[in-house]
Amino acid sequence: MTTDFARTRSLFDLPEGVIYLDGNSLGPLPRGVAARVQRTITAEWGQMLITGWNKAGWMDQPTRIGDRIGRLIGAEAGHVVLGDTLSIKVYQALASALELQPGKRVILSDTGNFPSDLYMAEGLCRTLGDGYTVKTVAPEVVMQAIDDSVAVLMLTEVDYRTGRRHDLPALTAKAHSVGALAIWDLAHSAGATDVKVAEGGADFAVGCSYKYLNSGPGGPAFIYVAPRHAPQVRPALSGWLGHESPFAFDLAYRPGSGIERMRVGTPPVLQIAALDAALDVWEGVEIADLRARSLELTDAFIAGVEAACPDLVLATPREHRWRGSQVSFHHPQGFAIMQALISRGVIGDFRAPDILRFGFTPLFIGLDEVEGAVAILSEIMATDAWNRPEFMTRGRVT
Ligand SMILES: Cc1ncc(COP(=O)(O)O)c(C=O)c1O
Repeated sequence: MTTDFARTRSLFDLPEGVIYLDGNSLGPLPRGVAARVQRTITAEWGQMLITGWNKAGWMDQPTRIGDRIGRLIGAEAGHVVLGDTLSIKVYQALASALELQPGKRVILSDTGNFPSDLYMAEGLCRTLGDGYTVKTVAPEVVMQAIDDSVAVLMLTEVDYRTGRRHDLPALTAKAHSVGALAIWDLAHSAGATDVKVAEGGADFAVGCSYKYLNSGPGGPAFIYVAPRHAPQVRPALSGWLGHESPFAFDLAYRPGSGIERMRVGTPPVLQIAALDAALDVWEGVEIADLRARSLELTDAFIAGVEAACPDLVLATPREHRWRGSQVSFHHPQGFAIMQALISRGVIGDFRAPDILRFGFTPLFIGLDEVEGAVAILSEIMATDAWNRPEFMTRGRVT
């Protein structure tokens, strides 16, 4: 292993006394981010004013920094762009993929997909009319459900609740064998697993930057379009910055070259500056090392919790090939248990109906944190410390 995880750990600003196992939902603050954003605000926005678009390179950020994410997901250079939110990027990828598939009407997904992805697909089907439908099957039987009626296979690679990981190359190959295209949502993969979109044959991939890539709340999403499709796709969200020549202010839309056409409107410059600084942490990190360390941490957590807390039922696959970088357990009182953990400084989260979710991000989590979290969880379970009224009240975000 060549990656120095002690070094990456030192690059994060984590509050004292906290074991943060929720970097799979909102990544913590890398030390370099605040100064970079401050500089972008004062030296660029403050001093350059509107000339910052050219002088500070704001207009090139979405593709330049998109490429930095491209390295982490195994994309070809020049085929990833940033912008908007992930839900928007799902819609955009799906609309473009369906247009490349005339005559087919079925979008195949699974019941473990993130609801927003399914909502966006259903909304798009309603707009298109004409028999377009979303079909969902259980994650374990997606392979068998891919038949020649399928226009587009749309999956989230790592299940946000269970942490189960699909076999991206095998499912993509099956989709291609029946003439379907594959869209992969990498929200829980990018920066968490050894995902390789180009090698795996993905047609489109999308993901967010505020989880394992640590861009901060509301950070921009990304989209990848395979080079073989990039010159053909017609963006349904045909905004002016995806135009071939935005400042010609042409009344007719002409798509920009390659991935540029997947841009929509003005990029969030301050958030992208935060992301750019956050991505500095990844310099010197080998993705194979990240994957090996992630499996070591999740193995240790599963073993520790199962030995000490017999009432918690593992929801995450034991086999490495089916596991992302999180561990989830079922318990009917999962919400209260998680609140008790948070009150003791172990931050994970809860996903309805009964899932306690713990993310393991090797950049800043090591075996000491795993041991500490297991000890606190064991104490809570052994003493029923979760069974108090203050742990039963739910906020807007769980
Ligand atoms: C798998 C997946 N898809 C889509 C989304 C929605 O992302 P956004 O709120 O950025 O649109 C999320 C959010 O957590 C997610 O986990």
